[in-house]
Amino acid sequence: MQELWDPGTKTVIESLGIRPGWRCLEVGAGGGSIAAWLAERVGPGGEVLATDVSTRHLDALQLANLEVREHDILGDPLPDAHFDLVHARLVAEHLGRRSLERMVGPLRPGGWLVLEDCDWGAACSYPDDRGQRAVDAANRLLSRSGLDPHYGRALVHELTRAGLEDVSADGRVRVYRGGSLASGWMRLTLESLAAALVESGELTRQELELAWADLDDPGSVFLSASMIAARGRRPH
Ligand SMILES: C[S@@+](CC[C@H](N)C(=O)[O-])C[C@H]1O[C@@H](n2cnc3c(N)ncnc32)[C@H](O)[C@@H]1O
Repeated sequence: MQELWDPGTKTVIESLGIRPGWRCLEVGAGGGSIAAWLAERVGPGGEVLATDVSTRHLDALQLANLEVREHDILGDPLPDAHFDLVHARLVAEHLGRRSLERMVGPLRPGGWLVLEDCDWGAACSYPDDRGQRAVDAANRLLSRSGLDPHYGRALVHELTRAGLEDVSADGRVRVYRGGSLASGWMRLTLESLAAALVESGELTRQELELAWADLDDPGSVFLSASMIAARGRRPH
């Protein structure tokens, strides 16, 4: 995920005018690459709080201005009106509106909320659509436990509804080959859901194996989901 999406995330955050001294909150920080980059970017006078329900990939990060905290965005407390930037990527699409609302209070007046979430509407695989059909089946399965595979298109409305100002959004699509790190993201998703996909009748074992073959084949090309990056500021 980091390989696919970090370059664009950094461009989006740079465009806000991030500078030394900023206080940043990275929600659902995952592998921690953006939290570590934010810590470098805001320097010793700034601070970064990286939260996740599981901090197993974050605990190795040892930076003086970075705090790692095991934290559930849906319930655990956060400081009020404190951060210049709150960022969450691929988190709200799973947790929904309540998670977004919980990220507004910690912003200082004028601070930015940046949410990045996928919209799978235009994703495809070429020349065969087996790989994409399997990913679509995985998204249908994940929808039953809360994922909105089209949350990206809702973000402008969601940020506006949460009372933010200067709301806007952009999208980016990556094009990648089978057998790459990026296709590995899809392969791992399908592997972890394999039993549930077959049991639920979404895919047969044979369909799964054909999709894996395509995901491993450098002759296959994939258009990623659109990553929608939406931003808005807390009013003064
Ligand atoms: C799809 S991953 C995205 C990771 C990272 N933001 C990225 O884009 O590389 C979603 C992350 O959200 C975390 N997460 C899930 N539920 C959460 C919650 N209620 N509060 C905080 N983090 C949560 C997961 O542990 C996981 O690290």
